[in-house]
Amino acid sequence: MKNHIERVLFDEQEILKGIDRVAAEVTASYGSTEFTVVSILKGSCVFASDLIRRIPVPLELAFVAASSYGDGTTSGRLKLNFLPAEHEIQGRNLLLVDDILDTGRTMHAIKQELLKKGAADVQTCVFLDKPSRRAVEFESDYRVFEVENLFVVGYGLDFAGRYRNLPYVGALREEIYAQALAN
Ligand code: IMP
Ligand code: MG
Repeated sequence: MKNHIERVLFDEQEILKGIDRVAAEVTASYGSTEFTVVSILKGSCVFASDLIRRIPVPLELAFVAASSYGDGTTSGRLKLNFLPAEHEIQGRNLLLVDDILDTGRTMHAIKQELLKKGAADVQTCVFLDKPSRRAVEFESDYRVFEVENLFVVGYGLDFAGRYRNLPYVGALREEIYAQALAN
């Protein structure tokens, strides 16, 4: 898989250092307020599992599933496949977690949906942020790293379902996705 990667942007050590920083911010900000981390599947499961283990206060974990990308590298229509049960949303303080904030459509839509279903508060936390790609006005409350406008994979992020298991984040070689999109 390594020969599909143009260059490594963040290695394992840098990633964990960045997550330590954000975990400390989240911990300080919630104080003694209990909250639920809501991980957006599938991409954020790797990030969420490292993040929660660095937050040393009581919290719960829930998942939502959304798919917007299909097999391409540009944002398609968003589909919410499932949400947490009502009792996990209503009156709760939620920390919505995603792998990457790109156009912003996914986070924006899911945050609105959770508020509509009665969440008391929804904060957001992303592993990567590509501000240059934003199509809707949306800023995340917490983010680990900002990235330039490159298609990146690894540490949960995929291209056509692959590369989620890479322990680092890398830019995918252009010929790999150009080839797949031409097929
Ligand atoms: P948004 O709705 O455009 O902000 O898209 C967010 C979703 O697009 C993320 O949850 C990712 O699944 C996917 N995505 C956006 N950029 C990338 C990338 O560079 N690599 C892999 N997935 C990406
Ligand atoms: Mg994805």
